[in-house]
Amino acid sequence: MTPTVQGKKRRNIMSKIKCIGVLTSGGDSPGMNAAVRAVVRTGIYNGLKVMGIRRGYNGLIHGEIEEMDARAVSDIMQKGGTILHTARSMEFMTPEGREKAVSMAKIFEIDGVVVIGGDGSFRGARELSRLGIPTIGLPGTIDNDIACSEYTIGFDTAVNTALDSINKLRDTVASHERCSVIEVMGRNAGYIALYCGIAGGAEAISIPEKPLKTDDVIKTIIEARNRGKNRYIIVVAEGVGGSAELAKAIEEQTGVETRATILGHVQRGGSPSARDRIVASLMGAKATELLIQGVGNRIVAMKHNKIVDYDIEEALQMKKSIEDYMYKLSKILSI
Ligand code: F6P
Repeated sequence: MTPTVQGKKRRNIMSKIKCIGVLTSGGDSPGMNAAVRAVVRTGIYNGLKVMGIRRGYNGLIHGEIEEMDARAVSDIMQKGGTILHTARSMEFMTPEGREKAVSMAKIFEIDGVVVIGGDGSFRGARELSRLGIPTIGLPGTIDNDIACSEYTIGFDTAVNTALDSINKLRDTVASHERCSVIEVMGRNAGYIALYCGIAGGAEAISIPEKPLKTDDVIKTIIEARNRGKNRYIIVVAEGVGGSAELAKAIEEQTGVETRATILGHVQRGGSPSARDRIVASLMGAKATELLIQGVGNRIVAMKHNKIVDYDIEEALQMKKSIEDYMYKLSKILSI
């Protein structure tokens, strides 16, 4: 594929980087394809050869690598999942696996890599950088739990998917004057639960950062009933779990018929929202530009709504927590 843009051939004369690879790793998230597209097209626009690496780090180890031209990423922007497939590679965690990956990168003349994934994927990116392959990480996870970034690719779509289910459950909950306990994804972080809980008008939100006791939820329902409510939405994050047991306890102790629904992996799929496509496009382009400048070992992130980048080591040591104000607000708005 000849890298031409509006008839002009752009040459990347400043950089030693001639060829970059892109891979997706860990749990998929809607918007990963838009990020892959941005890497491929920004790379080609700047005169680079771009290689798609399949199945995460496993594909790098085993040479599942193919050149991608601008047309290889046509028509993928609106698709959920990742066209490159993804994996959590055990082999890459071993020194032998990493050496194989580096040898394979050399065989394919890959001078730099963009890794789209979560913290585990970034630790892999740090190892690749240490072994001499400049690597840039992009935050792609529905959980929004990457400490260095205010936002992760896929979060908005996942929240909207969960919210759509909450809206539907609310219809039937209202008809039957019931309580609905809805478990959403988020093993270590409650961002999805908090956001769809506020947007879905939940009476109570239980998240790993602030897990509620069964008695607290029951008290909340009784108080809400005393204020005239006759239907109740309780959002529980996966990391807290126990939604079936909670539903049973609510029904037994309040007399309100209660059903539990675990939304599960449906939240990881679906066409990415505009926000996810745009953030993925900006981040993918930024990652490619960093590699062109010969910079590696960085994570691209969002800070104050702007795209920035951090050293991987620094990024992995950062901490992030949910905003107390949002949590308080969820209670105020559900009176
Ligand atoms: O990608 C994040 C996430 O969806 C978490 O919310 C969830 O706990 C986990 O991945 C599920 O992983 P798996 O797809 O391997 O079951």
